[in-house]
Amino acid sequence: MEGLIRVRERIAAACARAGRDPASVRLVAVSKTQPLDKLREAAAAGQRIFGENYAQELREKADALPGCEWHFVGALQTNKARLVVGRAALIHTCDRIALAQELSKRARNAGLVQPVLLEVNVGREPQKAGALPEDTPALLAEVRALPGLRCEGLMCIPPASGDPRPHFRALRELAQRLGLAELSMGMSADYETAIEEGATLVRVGTAIFGERARR
Ligand SMILES: Cc1ncc(COP(=O)(O)O)c(C=O)c1O
Repeated sequence: MEGLIRVRERIAAACARAGRDPASVRLVAVSKTQPLDKLREAAAAGQRIFGENYAQELREKADALPGCEWHFVGALQTNKARLVVGRAALIHTCDRIALAQELSKRARNAGLVQPVLLEVNVGREPQKAGALPEDTPALLAEVRALPGLRCEGLMCIPPASGDPRPHFRALRELAQRLGLAELSMGMSADYETAIEEGATLVRVGTAIFGERARR
């Protein structure tokens, strides 16, 4: 797990540069399409939080690897909500009221409160998921009114090209305005920048596990 060790070192260095406590940044190892053996290796090296993009895959891996914490970081269809509620300690990608309502209903049926983040389309990219920044306060108000959900923060995937820093900064400022503590931002290419800008959750896949198999 050389990749994992290197990522941990870089997280620590980014925290030192930013004057942040390393304990304030949680590493989500994005393990989609990675075989269970690689996840077991990472778990043996102390990695506890894994991020999955597909509901079915999260369910299978969570059943096979008890004792880990599972985060859902992919696009979530409403009809897959039931697979994820209660299994994911945190759903990073709640981005519309219909999905929030379904998640809340499923959580209530299961007798639990599901922690979520709201995904924000910081780059205003038409093909991307996420609420537009100006629509996020209204979405948050609706989510806060749902008994089965607890919104803990915001998540973003900035545009693939260009400097991600202004987008990370904008997400942090939006979260501050809305009184939200958690910021899920930063992937393999930019997690250090995200930490400098306040990320509390970084979602790192290829830098830990290497290239993903195609699905
Ligand atoms: C939402 C999300 N976050 C993080 C990652 C991890 O990306 P990377 O492999 O570049 O670290 C992925 C990969 O698919 C993703 O979909």
